[in-house]
Amino acid sequence: MEINKVWAIYFSPVGNTEKIVVSLAEAMGEKLNLPVEKLDYTLPASRKEINSFNKTDLVIWGTPVYAGRVPNRLLPYIQNHFIGNGALAVPIAIFGNRSFDEALIELRNILEDNGFHTIAGAGLVAQHAFSKVLAVGRPDQADLEKIEEFLKKIVDKISILKTPLQPIDVKGCNPPEVYYTPKGLDGNPTVFLKAKPKTDMEKCNSCGVCIRRCPMGSINKEDPSDVIGICIKCHACVKRCRQHAKYFDDEQFISHKLMLERDFAGRVEPMFFI
Ligand SMILES: Cc1cc2nc3c(=O)[nH]c(=O)nc-3n(C[C@H](O)[C@H](O)[C@H](O)COP(=O)(O)O)c2cc1C
Repeated sequence: MEINKVWAIYFSPVGNTEKIVVSLAEAMGEKLNLPVEKLDYTLPASRKEINSFNKTDLVIWGTPVYAGRVPNRLLPYIQNHFIGNGALAVPIAIFGNRSFDEALIELRNILEDNGFHTIAGAGLVAQHAFSKVLAVGRPDQADLEKIEEFLKKIVDKISILKTPLQPIDVKGCNPPEVYYTPKGLDGNPTVFLKAKPKTDMEKCNSCGVCIRRCPMGSINKEDPSDVIGICIKCHACVKRCRQHAKYFDDEQFISHKLMLERDFAGRVEPMFFI
C-alpha cells in the first residue's frame, strides 16, 4: 500500500501522550522515509477545524486513558472533526499503570466510524498524571524495545496489506461498557468530579502558564486562582506550573491517588495488537 505521510495526532495535557506518539510517528517516518506532521488537539483553539485525510496517510493517534476510556469531554470533537477517507490508523492508549480498560477499543471504534482503517493498536504505560511515583520513567528501555518490534511489524504489514481491511482486533468490551469507578483507600467508590485545583498565592507569580495550558480553557485570564469552567483533573496546570503553586486537596481525590499508589505500584506491561 502506498503511504506518503505519517501523522502524529494526540491530546496530551501533561505531555506523556505527545512524547510517545511523536516519537512513534518519527520512528515510523524514518523507517518509511516519509515526512511527519503533528496535529495536537490539546488546547481549545486547536479544536475548531475539520481535518480530512486520504488513503496515502498513516495516522498514529494517541489518547491518554481517563477512567478506563477516551477522555469523555473530547468525544464530540474527535467524533465530528476527522474524516479518514480510508487513511490507515494506529490507535494508541497511554495509561498510568492501572489499566487502559476500554479506551483502546473505544478509540479504534471511533477511528473506524470516522473512515480510518485501523491496522494495529497498543496500550502503553507512562507516568500517571496524578502521581509522582506511579510508572515514573515509563516507557523505559524494555518498553522501547517492544515498541521498536511493533513498528517493524507495522511496516511489514503495510507492505502486504490488501483491501478490504478488517478493524484491528484489540482488548476490550465491544461496545465499550461502563467507565472505571475510582476507589479510595478503603476500597469504596470516591467521587471527586467537582474537585478543582487550588493555587498557593504565595508561590504563584501570575505567569499565566496554567491559563494557557488548560485544555478546557477554564482558568480565569485575570486571576489564575479562579477556575471558572469545567475541570477534567488532567493536571496540566499542576505539572506545568514552574512555581509548584497548583495542587488538589480534595479528600476523595487524594484517597484515590493513594489507593492507586498502594495497589498499582507493580510493573504493568504494555500490550500490542497487530
Ligand atoms: C483524569 C485522569 C484519569 C485517569 N485514568 C486512568 C485510568 O483509568 N487508568 C490508568 O491506568 N491511568 C489513568 N490515568 C493516567 C493517564 O492515562 C496518564 O497519566 C497519561 O499519561 C496522561 O497523559 P498526558 O501526559 O498525555 O496528559 C488518568 C489520568 C487522569 C488525568
